[in-house]
Amino acid sequence: MKTYFITGANRGLGLGLVTELVKDTNNKVIVTVRKSASIEDLEALGSKNLSIIYCDIVNESEIDSAFEELAKITDTIDVAILNAAFVHQDTRNPLQLTENAESWKDFIDATNQSIEINGYSQIYITNKLIPFVEKSQEKKIFHVSSGFGDDEFVEKSRIDTAIPYSISKAVTNMIVAKYTDIAKTKGLTIIALCPGVVNTYGVTDEVADGLMESFKHGFRRVNEDYIGVQNVETASKKLLKAVEFYGSFQSGKIFSTNGSEHISA
Ligand SMILES: NC(=O)c1ccc[n+]([C@@H]2O[C@H](COP(=O)([O-])OP(=O)(O)OC[C@H]3O[C@@H](n4cnc5c(N)ncnc54)[C@H](OP(=O)(O)O)[C@@H]3O)[C@@H](O)[C@H]2O)c1
Repeated sequence: MKTYFITGANRGLGLGLVTELVKDTNNKVIVTVRKSASIEDLEALGSKNLSIIYCDIVNESEIDSAFEELAKITDTIDVAILNAAFVHQDTRNPLQLTENAESWKDFIDATNQSIEINGYSQIYITNKLIPFVEKSQEKKIFHVSSGFGDDEFVEKSRIDTAIPYSISKAVTNMIVAKYTDIAKTKGLTIIALCPGVVNTYGVTDEVADGLMESFKHGFRRVNEDYIGVQNVETASKKLLKAVEFYGSFQSGKIFSTNGSEHISA
């Protein structure tokens, strides 16, 4: 039996991961969602091995309470997947950010909010998780990140937009790197994983491909085989395979879930 902990599980990739994991009734799956979130899709799974805990990951007192709830359910987490994130959309390149005072303020606000959710909260939650993960067989914590926060990916793809999100995911990647020594000392796996491009927009894959049009050339520069978005089911299965595959000696790094050596689309 393995116990999984997943943040941001009510929709998108998080929901896809839960959907896969609860199929194995030997798994215990504990997820967090915000109080404001609709949990209809999670409830529709009708799973007895799923527990839902409420917390906004930028609210420390909610996180503290969530971990008190968690401790009532289990003292052991095998695999934690920190998936929740603020995915801010921004079509401006660096030069456009200073076009006027409003644009600059908007950039600063969006970047601060993105870092708060995708950066600082990851440290708070990781530190809360370590005592639970240390007691397990697997001892794994994964931060779902993005190539957008990887300098080599950005340089190769020449994608110069989505700056607040990209900065915040660079923060995620650095946070993971800063846990290298702790992970290696404690025998933990702490890794960032990029799932590639996933259609979490609630539209058909064809429509999602259209939404990604402006990024397509960039994606092909880093991955000449890029053919389009993946659906949630495919991306979730790939991520869970990566979760099985990676181990402690790779801690501190970011990997693509498609197994490519460099961060890929
Ligand atoms: N989709 C892609 O193509 C892609 C590519 C690369 C990386 N990723 C990464 O994959 C992960 C999942 O992406 P996604 O596309 O599934 O995102 P999504 O559809 O936007 O879902 C984001 C999830 O995070 C939760 N969340 C946001 N802010 C939160 C907060 N303050 N407290 C608690 N939960 C919060 C959301 O809950 P609410 O419903 O309450 O807002 C939702 O459950 C993210 O880390 C993202 O950066 C995605």
